[in-house]
Amino acid sequence: MKISSLITNWYSKHKRDLPWRETKNPYFIWVSEVILQQTRIKQGIHYYNNFINKFPNIFALANTTLDEVMITWQGLGYYSRARNMHSTSKEIAENFNGQFPETFEELKKLKGIGDYTAAAIASFAFNKAVPVVDGNVFRVLARLYGIYESTQLSSGKKIFYQKANELIDIKDPATYNQAIMEFGALQCTPKNPNCSSCPLNLICFAFIHNTISELPLKKAKIKKRNRYFYFIHITYKNHLFIEKRNRNDIWEMLYQFPLIELNEETDIKTILSHPKWIKLFETINYKLNPKLIKKKHILSHQNIFSSFIKIEILNINDYLKNNYIKTTIKDIKNYSIPRLIESYIQQLDK
Ligand code: ADE
Repeated sequence: MKISSLITNWYSKHKRDLPWRETKNPYFIWVSEVILQQTRIKQGIHYYNNFINKFPNIFALANTTLDEVMITWQGLGYYSRARNMHSTSKEIAENFNGQFPETFEELKKLKGIGDYTAAAIASFAFNKAVPVVDGNVFRVLARLYGIYESTQLSSGKKIFYQKANELIDIKDPATYNQAIMEFGALQCTPKNPNCSSCPLNLICFAFIHNTISELPLKKAKIKKRNRYFYFIHITYKNHLFIEKRNRNDIWEMLYQFPLIELNEETDIKTILSHPKWIKLFETINYKLNPKLIKKKHILSHQNIFSSFIKIEILNINDYLKNNYIKTTIKDIKNYSIPRLIESYIQQLDK
């Protein structure tokens, strides 16, 4: 039997029922694939249902505000994806009559749609014979064919894509692509795969050579940047103050408490003499809670060591009035905020 048939046979017996597998609608498929690049299936289903309930088609997404999209995306991280989706929905609504282009090449021209997403839409929605290659598929291919190449290098990627193209079932690429991804996710797992029950075990390079644990090659570790965020949770009567983050940094355009960022960990005394603190609280009488609430937040390229400083102010000054947005704990849900800050706020209620 052909390898692709072994995989699709396995799939017909083991596949999970997932909402985006019930549809050929390219809009739903696009939404699901972008969400699944950000999170695991279980949480992804929740975000997916919520997203398509709110924006049931490309026009609904194109006609809403960016803030509304960001609020729906909140918690998934990597907010430029949400911004790109909004921009691309407008492009398709306005310049493509609301119809997605059907080929890999045309899809790739759209903002935020790279190789992976273009292949997924072309294949799942339009049954085009292009391979959809995610981490699961890289792992299956590396083991099956004994590919000792890094997926981080373009030379390595090329070899993987050659194999993926050879393997694809051109009669039903949509099912085959779902099948090999699912096969990687459930059968050819990163750790302790159950090779004795695997339909490919007799032809699998890694199983035959006992090199499952060596393949795929481990990714090179990236050096992470450490950042130290001191958020100031200012309360004034029933209010608190927030600001919008800048572009070109993490949490681009999301809202946050007034922030002092430093290159190293420090104590509250140092913060109290920081120029920004002095500016913020000039002529203000306040009651400071000296206890810092600390939270560590790990991102792919950065570690954020954050501390929250709670301070109650008894009067207000022009600097605060002119540079920050006054809101309340209740109304903060109308702003998109990083998950880190959301988790701090949730903790306040306890
Ligand atoms: N991960 C990414 N895309 C997926 C899909 N279509 N089905 C299951 N898991 C996925």
